[in-house]
Amino acid sequence: MAVYEATHPLIKHKLGLMRQHDISTKEFRELASEVARLLTYEATKDLETEAETIECWSGPVEVQRIKGKKITVVPILRAGLGMMDGVLDLIPSARVSVVGLYRNEETLEPVTYYEKMTGSMEDRTALILDPMLATGGSLIACIDMLKKSGCTSIRGLFLVAVPEGIEKVEAAHPDVDIYVASVDERLNENGYILPGLGDAGDKIFGTK
Ligand code: URA
Repeated sequence: MAVYEATHPLIKHKLGLMRQHDISTKEFRELASEVARLLTYEATKDLETEAETIECWSGPVEVQRIKGKKITVVPILRAGLGMMDGVLDLIPSARVSVVGLYRNEETLEPVTYYEKMTGSMEDRTALILDPMLATGGSLIACIDMLKKSGCTSIRGLFLVAVPEGIEKVEAAHPDVDIYVASVDERLNENGYILPGLGDAGDKIFGTK
């Protein structure tokens, strides 16, 4: 598993703004989308292209087109939806596969309540979206579901992760790459990331 922690100043700056305790729903939501857009840029840097000749105003010209598998974006409900628009800004024709998982607050284990994959998953690269990679349980469950549906090319985009979550996912799915704005310190006793962002779903949806 490769873990790419962002080094881009814009990502660091925007994530710093997101950590402010009194941030508004509007600002948090906008920043989640902006950071997701920048992470998409990083996570698609190695996509292969192929040459194609098209008719340009000045005559035939060779251009580059992305080749290989099409992309499906996989937001994990509900917080992953907060990153979806940012990703689709850059990949507007991507299909969306939705996975609904929540965390049992006592056991911290993921519970699946929704799954709707787009077609031909074996021909697609999946970009999983979830703001927080905490215990890793939800991500492992989501990857299990994607692999079961035939998908063999899987990447995950996160705003914040912790080393213990990354290690757990790596042990279960070493073939999946992770793109994250920041790898933070650790989990607290309730499974929240420190220093983290707090409850990302609540902040994106303005609940609580
Ligand atoms: N989910 C969140 O929203 N925040 C955390 O810190 C961990 C999981």
